[in-house]
Amino acid sequence: VSEPHAALPPSPVTPLAWQGGWRDGALALLDQTLLPREERMLRRRASAEVVTDIQRLAVRGAPLLGIAGAYALVLAWREALEAPAPTSEAEARFAAGARSLAHARPTAVNLPWAVASALARTRGLGGAERGEALLAHARALEAQERAACAAIARHGADLLGTRTRVLTHCNAGALVTPGLGTALAPLYLLHHRGAPVHVWVDETRPLLQGLRLTAYELGKAGVAHTVIADDVAPGLMRQGLVDAAIVGADRVCRNGDVVNKVGTYAVALACRAHDIPFYVAAPRTTFDAATARGADVPIEERRGDAARYLLAGTAPPGAPTFEPAFDVTPAALVTALVTEAGALDPLRLPSSIFGASRG
Ligand code: MRU
Repeated sequence: VSEPHAALPPSPVTPLAWQGGWRDGALALLDQTLLPREERMLRRRASAEVVTDIQRLAVRGAPLLGIAGAYALVLAWREALEAPAPTSEAEARFAAGARSLAHARPTAVNLPWAVASALARTRGLGGAERGEALLAHARALEAQERAACAAIARHGADLLGTRTRVLTHCNAGALVTPGLGTALAPLYLLHHRGAPVHVWVDETRPLLQGLRLTAYELGKAGVAHTVIADDVAPGLMRQGLVDAAIVGADRVCRNGDVVNKVGTYAVALACRAHDIPFYVAAPRTTFDAATARGADVPIEERRGDAARYLLAGTAPPGAPTFEPAFDVTPAALVTALVTEAGALDPLRLPSSIFGASRG
């Protein structure tokens, strides 16, 4: 019995890889805007390109944003050293590059945290020594997140047990981590163990991360799934067809409030109404000790995304839209937070889970 429990399935997709050393290397990113039609790897040698990739969602999802930011700092440091300007200005140029990376998107805490912690850990170093240290730091963060995914897979699988008809929202899988994902990791593991997993995939309006990305990676891994429009979920719950819901997070606040893709709150409300467990899976790098509650989190607005992707030609020209990318789910609606440290009660979070965000 112990061997199948120890073994994890391979990750169905590799969304990011650093290639080479700090001097000559590049960041390879799978362009998620093109999925599922095309699997194209981008090779980035300039930090500003990564900022743009983050903003246009070519690279996305909380853990991957942090890792991409950490690797892009290696590019920013190299640019600062190679710029045709006095070396004494390298530090200021690097700081400016780091700032634009940290602020490329506002809601997932992993990104500013990863940048701040890399700066703090390499402060005082210069030249090649700092380049090496930044690369080592990014590699360590990648390894840490891979291990967190594995632990979340095991804790989440234990928690779900025989609840194998599971609903998810957005994409919190292998595409957003160096491992099996957060919310999807327990489902991959249960499937690998032979459990009859079936995933209800919310399409996730307006940018369709569920329809395009979650369905893509579950399909690659051979996990049974059905895509539904977001507003179908409550009806399925009422019919008794959903055993549990599990989603990822962009930020977990000190009071346990969860900020995640817009529509998550509605899923949590529907779960509560139907007495279905609502789980949130997140590594400790997503826990933010500096933010007291969900209302304090900056919520990204993506002006025009819905109009561009869904309404083009169908809405009256110039119809006003409001497009928050995330919403807040109050801690009281979350049955458990699944972390690398185990399943936690969101209303009684131990201070140790906020360890990563103190750096
Ligand atoms: O706008 P996105 O696609 O970056 O939003 C992603 C999400 O909301 C995910 O659920 C979250 O980042 C968790 S990823 C493990």
